[in-house]
Amino acid sequence: MKKIEEARRILEKYGQGHINVNTEELADQVLKIDFEQLQELYEQAIHKTNVINNIEDIKPVKAINPEKIDKKQIDEYIKTGEDVVKSGKFAIAIMAGGQGTRLGHQGPKGTFEIELNSKVKSLFEVVVDKLKEAQKKYNVFIKCYIMTSPENNEETVSFFEKKNYFGYPKQYIEFFKQGEIPLLNKQGKLILGEDGLIKLASDGNGGIFYSMAKNGIIDEMKKNNIKWVFIGSVDNLLVKYVDTLLLGLAIKQNVKIATRTIVKNSPYERVGVLCKKNGKVKVIEYTELQNEMRLAVDEYGEMIYGESHIMCNLYNIEAIEKASTKELKYHVAEKKAKYINEKGELVVPEKENCYKFEKFIFDSFCLFDEIAILRGKREEDFAPIKNKDGTDCPETAKKLYEEYMAKNA
Ligand code: UTP
Repeated sequence: MKKIEEARRILEKYGQGHINVNTEELADQVLKIDFEQLQELYEQAIHKTNVINNIEDIKPVKAINPEKIDKKQIDEYIKTGEDVVKSGKFAIAIMAGGQGTRLGHQGPKGTFEIELNSKVKSLFEVVVDKLKEAQKKYNVFIKCYIMTSPENNEETVSFFEKKNYFGYPKQYIEFFKQGEIPLLNKQGKLILGEDGLIKLASDGNGGIFYSMAKNGIIDEMKKNNIKWVFIGSVDNLLVKYVDTLLLGLAIKQNVKIATRTIVKNSPYERVGVLCKKNGKVKVIEYTELQNEMRLAVDEYGEMIYGESHIMCNLYNIEAIEKASTKELKYHVAEKKAKYINEKGELVVPEKENCYKFEKFIFDSFCLFDEIAILRGKREEDFAPIKNKDGTDCPETAKKLYEEYMAKNA
Protein backbone atom coordinates (compact mmCIF):
# COMPACT_ATOMS: atom_id res chain seq x y z
CA MET A 1 0.00 0.00 0.00
CA LYS A 2 2.85 2.31 0.92
CA LYS A 3 4.36 1.76 -2.49
CA ILE A 4 1.14 2.79 -4.23
CA GLU A 5 0.93 5.99 -2.15
CA GLU A 6 4.54 6.84 -2.89
CA ALA A 7 3.98 6.27 -6.62
CA ARG A 8 0.90 8.54 -6.55
CA ARG A 9 2.85 11.25 -4.73
CA ILE A 10 5.63 11.15 -7.31
CA LEU A 11 3.21 11.26 -10.23
CA GLU A 12 1.45 14.31 -8.73
CA LYS A 13 4.78 16.04 -8.17
CA TYR A 14 5.72 15.66 -11.82
CA GLY A 15 2.35 16.58 -13.31
CA GLN A 16 1.47 12.98 -14.18
CA GLY A 17 -1.52 12.68 -11.83
CA HIS A 18 -3.74 11.40 -14.67
CA ILE A 19 -2.12 7.97 -14.18
CA ASN A 20 -4.27 6.15 -11.65
CA VAL A 21 -1.99 3.84 -9.69
CA ASN A 22 -4.16 0.94 -8.65
CA THR A 23 -1.79 -2.02 -8.73
CA GLU A 24 1.57 -2.79 -7.13
CA GLU A 25 2.95 -3.60 -10.58
CA LEU A 26 2.13 -0.13 -11.84
CA ALA A 27 3.54 1.39 -8.63
CA ASP A 28 6.80 -0.53 -9.12
CA GLN A 29 7.03 0.77 -12.66
CA VAL A 30 6.50 4.37 -11.52
CA LEU A 31 9.14 4.05 -8.80
CA LYS A 32 11.73 3.05 -11.39
CA ILE A 33 11.18 6.05 -13.68
CA ASP A 34 13.65 8.92 -13.65
CA PHE A 35 11.17 11.80 -13.87
CA GLU A 36 13.81 14.55 -13.78
CA GLN A 37 15.40 13.05 -16.88
CA LEU A 38 12.02 12.66 -18.60
CA GLN A 39 11.22 16.31 -17.96
CA GLU A 40 14.51 17.35 -19.51
CA LEU A 41 13.91 15.11 -22.51
CA TYR A 42 10.46 16.56 -23.05
CA GLU A 43 11.93 20.07 -23.02
CA GLN A 44 14.49 18.92 -25.55
CA ALA A 45 11.74 17.38 -27.71
CA ILE A 46 9.61 20.51 -27.87
CA HIS A 47 12.53 22.82 -28.51
CA LYS A 48 14.22 20.53 -31.00
CA THR A 49 15.96 22.49 -33.73
CA ASN A 50 16.26 20.62 -36.93
CA VAL A 51 19.50 21.72 -38.45
CA ILE A 52 23.00 22.11 -37.08
CA ASN A 53 23.62 25.76 -36.39
CA ASN A 54 27.33 26.11 -35.90
CA ILE A 55 28.58 24.72 -39.16
CA GLU A 56 31.96 26.31 -38.63
CA ASP A 57 32.63 23.63 -35.94
CA ILE A 58 31.95 20.88 -38.49
CA LYS A 59 34.67 19.44 -40.70
CA PRO A 60 34.73 16.52 -43.14
CA VAL A 61 36.23 13.15 -42.24
CA LYS A 62 38.78 11.21 -44.21
CA ALA A 63 37.79 7.64 -45.04
CA ILE A 64 40.17 4.98 -46.22
CA ASN A 65 39.21 3.79 -49.65
CA PRO A 66 40.56 0.25 -50.17
CA GLU A 67 40.55 0.80 -53.92
CA LYS A 68 43.24 3.41 -53.46
CA ILE A 69 45.47 1.22 -51.31
CA ASP A 70 48.11 -1.18 -52.41
CA LYS A 71 46.81 -4.78 -52.61
CA LYS A 72 49.71 -5.95 -50.43
CA GLN A 73 48.69 -3.56 -47.70
CA ILE A 74 45.09 -4.78 -47.85
CA ASP A 75 46.24 -8.39 -47.56
CA GLU A 76 48.29 -7.44 -44.54
CA TYR A 77 45.28 -5.85 -42.84
CA ILE A 78 43.16 -8.92 -43.60
CA LYS A 79 45.84 -11.25 -42.27
CA THR A 80 46.04 -9.23 -39.04
CA GLY A 81 42.25 -9.40 -38.68
CA GLU A 82 42.14 -13.10 -39.46
CA ASP A 83 44.76 -13.88 -36.83
CA VAL A 84 42.58 -12.23 -34.19
CA VAL A 85 39.50 -14.15 -35.32
CA LYS A 86 41.41 -17.46 -35.32
CA SER A 87 42.76 -16.76 -31.85
CA GLY A 88 39.17 -16.63 -30.49
CA LYS A 89 39.49 -13.01 -29.36
CA PHE A 90 36.69 -11.79 -31.58
CA ALA A 91 32.91 -11.81 -31.02
CA ILE A 92 29.89 -10.26 -32.66
CA ALA A 93 26.86 -8.50 -31.22
CA ILE A 94 23.59 -8.11 -33.09
CA MET A 95 21.28 -5.25 -32.31
CA ALA A 96 17.87 -6.87 -32.53
CA GLY A 97 15.86 -4.85 -30.03
CA GLY A 98 14.27 -2.48 -32.53
CA GLN A 99 10.55 -2.38 -33.15
CA GLY A 100 10.67 -2.49 -36.95
CA THR A 101 7.65 -0.20 -37.12
CA ARG A 102 8.30 0.84 -40.72
CA LEU A 103 8.43 -2.78 -41.91
CA GLY A 104 5.24 -3.56 -40.04
CA HIS A 105 6.30 -7.15 -39.30
CA GLN A 106 4.57 -8.74 -36.32
CA GLY A 107 7.28 -10.02 -34.00
CA PRO A 108 11.02 -9.43 -33.67
CA LYS A 109 12.52 -8.06 -36.90
CA GLY A 110 15.07 -10.91 -36.98
CA THR A 111 12.21 -13.38 -37.46
CA PHE A 112 11.16 -11.67 -40.70
CA GLU A 113 11.40 -14.18 -43.53
CA ILE A 114 12.55 -13.53 -47.05
CA GLU A 115 13.20 -15.77 -50.02
CA LEU A 116 16.87 -15.64 -51.00
CA ASN A 117 18.11 -17.72 -53.89
CA SER A 118 14.98 -19.87 -53.68
CA LYS A 119 15.33 -20.55 -49.95
CA VAL A 120 13.13 -18.88 -47.36
CA LYS A 121 15.26 -17.57 -44.53
CA SER A 122 14.73 -15.39 -41.51
CA LEU A 123 17.06 -12.45 -40.94
CA PHE A 124 18.44 -14.31 -37.93
CA GLU A 125 19.30 -17.28 -40.14
CA VAL A 126 21.20 -14.96 -42.49
CA VAL A 127 23.33 -13.88 -39.50
CA VAL A 128 23.98 -17.46 -38.40
CA ASP A 129 24.87 -18.47 -41.98
CA LYS A 130 27.71 -15.97 -41.82
CA LEU A 131 28.90 -17.37 -38.50
CA LYS A 132 28.88 -20.88 -39.92
CA GLU A 133 30.80 -19.71 -42.95
CA ALA A 134 33.41 -18.10 -40.69
CA GLN A 135 33.62 -21.28 -38.61
CA LYS A 136 34.52 -23.25 -41.72
CA LYS A 137 37.04 -20.67 -42.85
CA TYR A 138 38.77 -19.97 -39.53
CA ASN A 139 38.01 -23.15 -37.62
CA VAL A 140 36.59 -21.28 -34.66
CA PHE A 141 33.08 -20.83 -33.25
CA ILE A 142 32.60 -17.10 -32.93
CA LYS A 143 30.42 -16.10 -30.00
CA CYS A 144 27.33 -14.14 -30.96
CA TYR A 145 25.55 -11.86 -28.48
CA ILE A 146 22.04 -10.85 -29.44
CA MET A 147 20.53 -7.73 -27.93
CA THR A 148 16.77 -8.04 -27.62
CA SER A 149 14.22 -5.75 -26.03
CA PRO A 150 12.19 -6.67 -22.94
CA GLU A 151 9.24 -6.74 -25.34
CA ASN A 152 10.66 -9.16 -27.91
CA ASN A 153 13.16 -11.18 -25.86
CA GLU A 154 10.96 -14.19 -25.16
CA GLU A 155 9.82 -14.49 -28.74
CA THR A 156 13.38 -14.16 -30.01
CA VAL A 157 14.75 -16.85 -27.72
CA SER A 158 11.92 -19.27 -28.49
CA PHE A 159 12.41 -18.64 -32.21
CA PHE A 160 16.05 -19.72 -31.93
CA GLU A 161 15.02 -22.73 -29.84
CA LYS A 162 12.40 -23.74 -32.37
CA LYS A 163 14.88 -23.44 -35.21
CA ASN A 164 17.52 -25.33 -33.25
CA TYR A 165 19.84 -22.32 -33.46
CA PHE A 166 20.08 -22.96 -37.20
CA GLY A 167 22.63 -25.66 -36.51
CA TYR A 168 25.08 -23.39 -34.65
CA PRO A 169 26.10 -24.62 -31.17
CA LYS A 170 23.69 -23.08 -28.70
CA GLN A 171 26.42 -22.18 -26.20
CA TYR A 172 27.84 -19.68 -28.72
CA ILE A 173 24.64 -17.66 -28.92
CA GLU A 174 23.66 -15.54 -25.96
CA PHE A 175 20.79 -13.10 -25.53
CA PHE A 176 20.64 -9.99 -23.39
CA LYS A 177 17.94 -7.39 -22.97
CA GLN A 178 18.31 -3.69 -23.63
CA GLY A 179 16.78 -0.96 -21.52
CA GLU A 180 13.50 0.89 -21.90
CA ILE A 181 12.26 4.41 -21.32
CA PRO A 182 8.67 5.73 -21.22
CA LEU A 183 7.04 7.33 -24.22
CA LEU A 184 5.55 10.78 -23.68
CA ASN A 185 2.62 12.20 -25.57
CA LYS A 186 2.88 15.62 -27.24
CA GLN A 187 1.75 17.25 -23.97
CA GLY A 188 4.55 15.55 -22.06
CA LYS A 189 2.25 13.03 -20.37
CA LEU A 190 2.88 9.35 -19.78
CA ILE A 191 0.49 7.01 -21.57
CA LEU A 192 -0.97 3.64 -20.60
CA GLY A 193 -0.84 0.51 -22.72
CA GLU A 194 -3.47 -2.20 -23.04
CA ASP A 195 -1.85 -4.10 -20.16
CA GLY A 196 -2.68 -1.22 -17.80
CA LEU A 197 1.00 -0.31 -17.43
CA ILE A 198 2.91 2.78 -18.52
CA LYS A 199 3.95 2.44 -22.12
CA LEU A 200 7.70 2.00 -22.51
CA ALA A 201 9.89 1.66 -25.59
CA SER A 202 13.44 0.41 -26.18
CA ASP A 203 16.05 3.04 -25.42
CA GLY A 204 17.70 2.90 -28.86
CA ASN A 205 20.60 0.91 -30.28
CA GLY A 206 23.03 3.11 -28.31
CA GLY A 207 21.66 1.43 -25.20
CA ILE A 208 23.81 -1.57 -26.09
CA PHE A 209 26.86 -0.59 -24.05
CA TYR A 210 25.05 0.03 -20.80
CA SER A 211 22.93 -3.10 -21.22
CA MET A 212 26.03 -5.17 -21.91
CA ALA A 213 27.52 -3.98 -18.63
CA LYS A 214 24.28 -4.44 -16.71
CA ASN A 215 23.80 -7.97 -17.98
CA GLY A 216 27.36 -9.05 -17.20
CA ILE A 217 28.26 -9.39 -20.90
CA ILE A 218 31.36 -7.20 -20.69
CA ASP A 219 32.68 -9.18 -17.72
CA GLU A 220 32.03 -12.40 -19.57
CA MET A 221 33.82 -11.12 -22.66
CA LYS A 222 36.80 -10.11 -20.58
CA LYS A 223 36.86 -13.47 -18.85
CA ASN A 224 36.86 -15.16 -22.25
CA ASN A 225 39.64 -12.91 -23.49
CA ILE A 226 37.50 -11.23 -26.17
CA LYS A 227 39.33 -8.15 -27.42
CA TRP A 228 37.21 -7.03 -30.39
CA VAL A 229 33.47 -7.02 -31.00
CA PHE A 230 31.72 -6.25 -34.25
CA ILE A 231 28.34 -4.67 -33.54
CA GLY A 232 25.89 -4.80 -36.42
CA SER A 233 22.22 -4.48 -37.16
CA VAL A 234 19.89 -7.37 -37.83
CA ASP A 235 18.31 -5.86 -40.92
CA ASN A 236 21.12 -5.45 -43.45
CA LEU A 237 21.51 -8.63 -45.51
CA LEU A 238 25.03 -7.70 -46.59
CA VAL A 239 26.69 -6.93 -43.25
CA LYS A 240 30.11 -8.50 -42.97
CA TYR A 241 29.90 -9.50 -39.33
CA VAL A 242 33.35 -11.05 -39.49
CA ASP A 243 34.99 -8.06 -41.13
CA THR A 244 38.67 -9.00 -41.05
CA LEU A 245 39.71 -6.02 -43.17
CA LEU A 246 38.08 -3.55 -40.77
CA LEU A 247 39.59 -5.42 -37.84
CA GLY A 248 43.10 -5.41 -39.29
CA LEU A 249 42.80 -1.74 -40.16
CA ALA A 250 41.71 -0.84 -36.62
CA ILE A 251 44.65 -2.73 -35.16
CA LYS A 252 47.19 -1.24 -37.56
CA GLN A 253 45.83 2.25 -36.99
CA ASN A 254 45.91 1.63 -33.27
CA VAL A 255 42.35 2.82 -32.69
CA LYS A 256 39.64 1.45 -30.43
CA ILE A 257 36.68 1.91 -32.79
CA ALA A 258 36.33 1.40 -36.54
CA THR A 259 33.38 1.85 -38.86
CA ARG A 260 32.63 0.74 -42.40
CA THR A 261 30.78 3.36 -44.42
CA ILE A 262 29.40 3.73 -47.92
CA VAL A 263 29.03 6.87 -50.00
CA LYS A 264 25.53 8.34 -50.15
CA ASN A 265 23.83 7.63 -53.45
CA SER A 266 22.65 11.24 -53.69
CA PRO A 267 22.82 14.34 -51.48
CA TYR A 268 19.23 13.62 -50.51
CA GLU A 269 19.55 10.00 -49.40
CA ARG A 270 18.08 9.77 -45.91
CA VAL A 271 21.09 8.46 -44.02
CA GLY A 272 23.35 9.92 -41.33
CA VAL A 273 26.79 11.06 -42.46
CA LEU A 274 30.12 11.21 -40.70
CA CYS A 275 31.84 14.47 -39.93
CA LYS A 276 34.18 15.88 -37.32
CA LYS A 277 32.89 18.19 -34.65
CA ASN A 278 35.49 19.88 -32.49
CA GLY A 279 37.97 17.34 -33.78
CA LYS A 280 35.93 14.23 -32.87
CA VAL A 281 34.03 11.94 -35.24
CA LYS A 282 30.28 12.43 -35.14
CA VAL A 283 27.30 11.36 -37.20
CA ILE A 284 24.96 14.08 -38.40
CA GLU A 285 21.46 12.83 -38.95
CA TYR A 286 19.82 13.42 -42.32
CA THR A 287 17.38 15.90 -40.84
CA GLU A 288 20.15 17.97 -39.22
CA LEU A 289 22.14 18.49 -42.39
CA GLN A 290 21.91 21.93 -43.95
CA ASN A 291 21.51 22.13 -47.71
CA GLU A 292 24.85 23.90 -48.04
CA MET A 293 26.57 20.90 -46.44
CA ARG A 294 24.43 18.37 -48.22
CA LEU A 295 25.41 19.69 -51.63
CA ALA A 296 29.07 20.55 -50.94
CA VAL A 297 31.57 18.71 -53.18
CA ASP A 298 35.38 18.59 -53.27
CA GLU A 299 37.69 19.23 -56.23
CA TYR A 300 36.93 15.74 -57.60
CA GLY A 301 33.19 16.28 -57.42
CA GLU A 302 32.80 13.92 -54.44
CA MET A 303 30.31 14.84 -51.69
CA ILE A 304 32.23 16.29 -48.77
CA TYR A 305 29.60 15.02 -46.34
CA GLY A 306 28.81 11.79 -48.12
CA GLU A 307 30.35 9.12 -45.90
CA SER A 308 27.30 7.38 -44.48
CA HIS A 309 26.96 5.39 -41.30
CA ILE A 310 25.55 1.93 -42.01
CA MET A 311 25.78 0.39 -38.51
CA CYS A 312 28.84 -1.69 -39.30
CA ASN A 313 30.94 -0.86 -36.28
CA LEU A 314 33.83 -2.54 -34.57
CA TYR A 315 34.77 -1.93 -30.95
CA ASN A 316 37.73 -2.85 -28.84
CA ILE A 317 36.60 -4.20 -25.46
CA GLU A 318 38.07 -1.10 -23.78
CA ALA A 319 35.87 1.11 -25.97
CA ILE A 320 32.78 -0.93 -25.05
CA GLU A 321 33.65 -0.65 -21.41
CA LYS A 322 34.22 3.09 -21.63
CA ALA A 323 30.97 3.64 -23.57
CA SER A 324 29.07 1.62 -20.97
CA THR A 325 30.00 4.09 -18.26
CA LYS A 326 29.01 7.20 -20.24
CA GLU A 327 25.49 8.44 -20.58
CA LEU A 328 25.00 8.71 -24.36
CA LYS A 329 22.55 11.46 -25.20
CA TYR A 330 18.96 10.72 -26.18
CA HIS A 331 17.61 11.72 -29.59
CA VAL A 332 13.93 12.39 -30.07
CA ALA A 333 11.69 10.74 -32.64
CA GLU A 334 7.98 11.16 -33.18
CA LYS A 335 6.08 7.85 -33.29
CA LYS A 336 2.55 6.52 -33.40
CA ALA A 337 1.62 4.61 -30.27
CA LYS A 338 -1.71 3.05 -29.30
CA TYR A 339 -2.87 3.89 -25.79
CA ILE A 340 -5.74 3.63 -23.34
CA ASN A 341 -7.41 6.98 -22.70
CA GLU A 342 -8.86 8.26 -19.44
CA LYS A 343 -12.22 6.65 -20.24
CA GLY A 344 -10.50 3.29 -20.56
CA GLU A 345 -10.87 3.18 -24.34
CA LEU A 346 -8.17 2.04 -26.76
CA VAL A 347 -7.02 4.84 -29.07
CA VAL A 348 -5.21 3.97 -32.31
CA PRO A 349 -3.70 7.23 -33.57
CA GLU A 350 -3.57 8.00 -37.28
CA LYS A 351 -0.57 10.25 -36.98
CA GLU A 352 2.44 10.55 -34.71
CA ASN A 353 1.21 11.23 -31.18
CA CYS A 354 4.27 10.49 -29.06
CA TYR A 355 7.88 11.32 -28.41
CA LYS A 356 10.22 8.35 -28.30
CA PHE A 357 13.70 8.77 -26.83
CA GLU A 358 16.56 6.80 -28.32
CA LYS A 359 20.30 6.60 -27.83
CA PHE A 360 22.32 6.00 -30.98
CA ILE A 361 25.36 3.75 -31.12
CA PHE A 362 27.35 6.27 -33.16
CA ASP A 363 27.37 8.77 -30.30
CA SER A 364 30.10 6.59 -28.81
CA PHE A 365 32.49 7.61 -31.61
CA CYS A 366 33.37 10.87 -29.92
CA LEU A 367 34.68 9.08 -26.83
CA PHE A 368 37.99 8.73 -28.65
CA ASP A 369 40.14 11.20 -30.57
CA GLU A 370 40.33 9.00 -33.61
CA ILE A 371 38.39 6.14 -35.11
CA ALA A 372 39.19 4.23 -38.30
CA ILE A 373 36.82 4.83 -41.20
CA LEU A 374 36.82 2.33 -44.02
CA ARG A 375 34.83 3.03 -47.15
CA GLY A 376 32.84 0.04 -48.35
CA LYS A 377 30.58 -0.29 -51.36
CA ARG A 378 26.82 -0.19 -51.48
CA GLU A 379 26.55 -3.32 -53.64
CA GLU A 380 28.81 -5.24 -51.27
CA ASP A 381 27.86 -3.89 -47.85
CA PHE A 382 24.40 -2.44 -47.72
CA ALA A 383 21.10 -4.20 -48.38
CA PRO A 384 18.85 -2.91 -45.60
CA ILE A 385 15.26 -3.91 -44.94
CA LYS A 386 13.57 -0.91 -43.40
CA ASN A 387 10.27 -0.35 -45.19
CA LYS A 388 7.43 -2.56 -46.38
CA ASP A 389 7.91 -1.35 -49.95
CA GLY A 390 9.71 1.37 -51.94
CA THR A 391 13.28 2.15 -50.90
CA ASP A 392 15.18 -0.21 -48.60
CA CYS A 393 12.45 -2.83 -48.64
CA PRO A 394 12.59 -6.66 -48.81
CA GLU A 395 12.51 -6.59 -52.61
CA THR A 396 15.45 -4.18 -53.01
CA ALA A 397 17.46 -6.01 -50.33
CA LYS A 398 16.81 -9.40 -51.95
CA LYS A 399 18.02 -8.12 -55.31
CA LEU A 400 21.23 -6.69 -53.82
CA TYR A 401 21.87 -9.87 -51.82
CA GLU A 402 21.32 -12.22 -54.74
CA GLU A 403 23.49 -10.13 -57.05
CA TYR A 404 26.26 -10.07 -54.44
CA MET A 405 26.04 -13.84 -53.91
CA ALA A 406 26.13 -14.48 -57.65
CA LYS A 407 29.38 -12.56 -57.88
CA ASN A 408 31.02 -13.72 -54.65
CA ALA A 409 29.73 -17.16 -53.72
P1 UTP B 1 16.35 1.16 -36.79
O1 UTP B 1 16.77 2.46 -36.25
O2 UTP B 1 16.22 1.02 -38.24
O3 UTP B 1 14.98 0.78 -36.07
O4 UTP B 1 17.31 0.05 -36.20
P2 UTP B 1 14.00 -0.44 -36.25
O5 UTP B 1 13.41 -0.66 -34.91
O6 UTP B 1 14.64 -1.64 -36.86
O7 UTP B 1 12.91 0.08 -37.27
P3 UTP B 1 11.84 1.28 -37.15
O8 UTP B 1 12.62 2.55 -37.07
O9 UTP B 1 10.99 1.03 -35.93
O10 UTP B 1 11.07 1.12 -38.41
C1 UTP B 1 18.58 -0.22 -36.67
C2 UTP B 1 19.11 -1.41 -35.89
O11 UTP B 1 19.15 -1.12 -34.51
C3 UTP B 1 18.37 -2.04 -33.78
C4 UTP B 1 17.36 -2.60 -34.79
O12 UTP B 1 16.90 -3.88 -34.36
C5 UTP B 1 18.20 -2.66 -36.05
O13 UTP B 1 19.04 -3.79 -36.07
N1 UTP B 1 17.73 -1.37 -32.65
C6 UTP B 1 17.05 -0.22 -32.82
C7 UTP B 1 17.86 -1.94 -31.39
O14 UTP B 1 18.48 -2.99 -31.23
N2 UTP B 1 17.27 -1.28 -30.34
C8 UTP B 1 16.58 -0.15 -30.48
O15 UTP B 1 16.08 0.38 -29.47
C9 UTP B 1 16.47 0.42 -31.76
